Amino acid sequence: MSTGTTDAEPALFSERLKAATWGLHEAAENHGFTDSLLAGTLPREDYTALVAQHYFAYAALEDVGRELADDPVAGPFLIPELFRLPALRRDLALLLGPNWHSRIEATRATGEYAARIRATAQWPAGYVAHHYTRYIGDLSGGQFIRKAVRAAYGFGDGDGASFYDFAAIGSLPKFKNRYRALLDSLPVEAAEQERVIAETRAAYRCNIEVFADLGRARSAV
Ligand code: HEM
Repeated sequence: MSTGTTDAEPALFSERLKAATWGLHEAAENHGFTDSLLAGTLPREDYTALVAQHYFAYAALEDVGRELADDPVAGPFLIPELFRLPALRRDLALLLGPNWHSRIEATRATGEYAARIRATAQWPAGYVAHHYTRYIGDLSGGQFIRKAVRAAYGFGDGDGASFYDFAAIGSLPKFKNRYRALLDSLPVEAAEQERVIAETRAAYRCNIEVFADLGRARSAV
C-alpha cells in the first residue's frame, strides 16, 4: 500500500520512523503467509498457529510494559486499552479449547523475538520501537486482517479474532494521531532516535522471521 510520504527529508520523528521502516513494512505486508491470510485462503490451523505465536510475543511486550509503566520514556505509551493478552487468551480458548496453553509452543523465530523484546526492559526507548511496530500495526493493517479472518472462518463478533478488536480505543485515526504526537515528543536525543529506528527495523525483521517459520511449518505438513 502507498504511504503518501514525499521525497523531502521528514522533520518529525514519527515521519522519519515511518520513512526509514516502510521498506520492511512492505516485506511484512507482502509475505506469502500474510498474503494468504489477507486473501482468506489460509487454513484455520495456520491462522491458529499465528495467534499462538502472537501470544508469546505479546506476553513479552506486556510483561515488560508493566515493568516500564512509570518510566518517563516508555510510560506514556503504556495505554491499558491496547493490551492484547486478554483477547489472545479468549481467541486461543475458542480456537484450541480450554487446555490451549498446553497445546502451543513458540517457534525458534518467536523465541528470539520475545527475547529481544524482553531485553528492552533495560532500554525503555528500545521498548517503544517494539510497542510501535506491533500495536500501530494491529491498529492499521490488523484491521484488514480482522475483516479477512472473520469472513474466512465465519467468526462472529469477537469470536477467534478479538485480538484485532480495539473498540475500547474509540476512533483509530484519532488514536494514531495521538500516538504519533507521543513519538514526536519522545524525550531522547537525536542519536537515541536513530537507535530507536534501528530497533524498529529489527522488530520488523523479527516479525518477518515469524511469518517465515509459520510458512515453513505449513509446507512441512
Ligand atoms: C501502517 C497495511 C502488515 C506494522 C499501515 C498502514 C497500512 C497498513 C494501510 C497505513 C496506516 C496509516 O497510515 O494510518 C498493512 C497490511 C498488512 C500490514 C495490509 C498486511 C497484513 C503489517 C505488519 C506489521 C505492520 C505485519 C508489523 C509487524 C505497521 C506499522 C504501521 C503500519 C507500525 C504504522 C506506520 C506509521 O504510520 O508510522 N499498515 N500492514 N503492518 N503497519 Fe501495516
